[in-house]
Amino acid sequence: TEFSNSNGAMVYDFAHSLRQSLPKFMMEYRFAADEVLTKVSILREEFLYLHKYNPIEHVSSRVKSPESILRKVVKRGINPDLASIRANITDIAGIRITCSFIKDTYKVLHTLTAQNDLKVLQIKDYIKHPKPNGYKSLHLILEIPVFLSEGPVPVIVEVQIRTIAQDFWASLEHKIFYKYEGDVPEHLVEELTDAANAAEKLDLQMQRLHTAVHGHDVNAE
Ligand code: GTP
Ligand code: MG
Repeated sequence: TEFSNSNGAMVYDFAHSLRQSLPKFMMEYRFAADEVLTKVSILREEFLYLHKYNPIEHVSSRVKSPESILRKVVKRGINPDLASIRANITDIAGIRITCSFIKDTYKVLHTLTAQNDLKVLQIKDYIKHPKPNGYKSLHLILEIPVFLSEGPVPVIVEVQIRTIAQDFWASLEHKIFYKYEGDVPEHLVEELTDAANAAEKLDLQMQRLHTAVHGHDVNAE
C-alpha cells in the first residue's frame, strides 16, 4: 500500500472495502424503495376500484446520494462503517406520498402499517403535533425485507405522508429557508406558521367541499 504505518493501512483497507460493498449497499435501498412503491401503487389502484375514489395524488421516491449520506455521518458523528450507517441513518431510502385530504393521510398510514411483512420502527404525527415552524406531515420509519439471492435482507425506509397543501408549504419552506439549517429568525417563523395555517384552512375547506358534493364521506368507508 501507499501507507507505511498501520493506521494508514487501516484507512486503506476501509476505503477498499467500502468501494467493494457500497454498490450493493445502495442497491438494497433502491430495492426497498421499490418494494414500498409497489405496495403504495397497489393500495392506490385497489382503493380506486373499490370506492371509485383515489386518495393519493402523487408518489415520489429517492435514495440519498453517498455524498449526502457521508455529510450526515460527519454531522452526527456516526461511525463511518456501513453497519453503523445502516443502523443510524433511517432516511437513505425515502418515499413521499401526497394525498388529497387530511383523512386520506391517516388512511394510507393505517393501511400501510397494517401490512405484516413490514416492521414499523417509528411513527411521528406532525399533523396532530406540527413543528414550531408549522411543518405538518406523517413520518413513518419502517423496515422491509428485500429478498436477495442470499435470502431476505431487512432495509429501513422513511415514508412521509401529507396533503397537497402541506406538501406545497413544505416544498417552498425548504426552498426559501434551507440556508438557515433549522435556525430561522423568529420574525420569519411567525410568517411561516401563518402560511402553514393558511394551508390548513385550505385543506379543511376543500375537505368540507368534497364531503358536501359527494353527499357522504368516502373517507369514512
Ligand atoms: P433529519 O431532519 O432528516 O436529520 O431527521 P430528524 O430526526 O430531524 O427527523 P424529522 O422527522 O424531524 O425529519 C425528517 C425529514 O422530514 C427531513 O429530512 C425533511 O425531509 C422533513 N422535514 C422535517 N422537518 C421539516 C421542516 O421543517 N420543513 C421541511 N420542508 N421539511 C421537514
Ligand atoms: Mg429534521
